Amino acid sequence: MSEFVIFLHPTDPTAKRPVDVIRDHCRHLDQLDRDGRLIAAGPFADPAHGGMIVGRFYGLTEAEAFARNDPFVLGSYSRPEVRAWAWSYRENGHLGVQGPAPGSHPRFLDTLHLRSTTRHFSTRPIEKHFVHRMLRAALAAPSEFNLQPWRPVVCHSLADRQRLERCCLDQPHVSAASLAVICAVDPTAFHRDAPRAADEMIASGQRSPEERDATITFIRSCYENPRDSAIRNGTIFAHQLLLAGLSQGLAGFWLGGFDEDAVRKEFRMPAHAVIAGVIGLGWPDEHEQPMPRQDEADVTGWGEWPGSV
Ligand SMILES: Cc1cc2nc3c(=O)[nH]c(=O)nc-3n(C[C@H](O)[C@H](O)[C@H](O)COP(=O)(O)O)c2cc1C
Repeated sequence: MSEFVIFLHPTDPTAKRPVDVIRDHCRHLDQLDRDGRLIAAGPFADPAHGGMIVGRFYGLTEAEAFARNDPFVLGSYSRPEVRAWAWSYRENGHLGVQGPAPGSHPRFLDTLHLRSTTRHFSTRPIEKHFVHRMLRAALAAPSEFNLQPWRPVVCHSLADRQRLERCCLDQPHVSAASLAVICAVDPTAFHRDAPRAADEMIASGQRSPEERDATITFIRSCYENPRDSAIRNGTIFAHQLLLAGLSQGLAGFWLGGFDEDAVRKEFRMPAHAVIAGVIGLGWPDEHEQPMPRQDEADVTGWGEWPGSV
């Protein structure tokens, strides 16, 4: 995907746009936003100059179609002009002119540093389309052999969050957050889905078709301790969900203090379900002081266990 700028030039700068056309235009933008592809949009301060949309598209054809289908264009209020755009920002080393590797994501590193556990939230809800967007981002996490054993249980309503809170040692931030997700894993997927994983490896050229049976056997042999793997894969999903929320301006927490049996019973999970953790997210009410971190040099070893001499 590449970035494109769509200029919407007014056909008649004096013409007033009906409110329902403006609403439809916003809905059109929302579709792009829901896919995480809208970078920026808005009118220029001088209405005679129209407005601008910056987004990610699969190519010029798709960007042009999006522009053509904008309700402002369909209603002949605007004339579109689409241009491929090279986005220069610090994290891509200003298009590789400076140090950092091109292709990194804007603000990603900042998000990692700015994260701190938040347990106090405003009562503002997180809209469902937002929840879906974050879940999809978390489901893009890596997993062993791409087995994707995650089975998250979403607690969106206050009633569900209160049910969960009772299973989490009554920790009040569970219901205070607007969203809590039980990051559960189905460890039977490691065995059951091995054929699909093998087929994907063959399709991507990592294995030959002749190696299919051996690959399935090998994948299954890696799961003598499925609980360890479930925790590992579930943890990656959970943290990706937390970071996805942070990238959208939410704040949240990791929670490991829960009664696993009680969660399974309350949320009708099978006995074999493994719960890696609970992630809570909400709109922050106040910014909490960051907790101190140990010094990189004290905890990191280069080629040996740190601190050993
Ligand atoms: C696996 C895990 C489990 C945690 N469980 C809880 C918990 O049950 N309750 C809680 O209030 N905080 C919990 N936390 C939050 C930690 O206390 C917090 O991350 C730590 O103090 C560092 O603070 P920071 O996240 O603000 O940097 C957990 C964190 C992790 C990573």
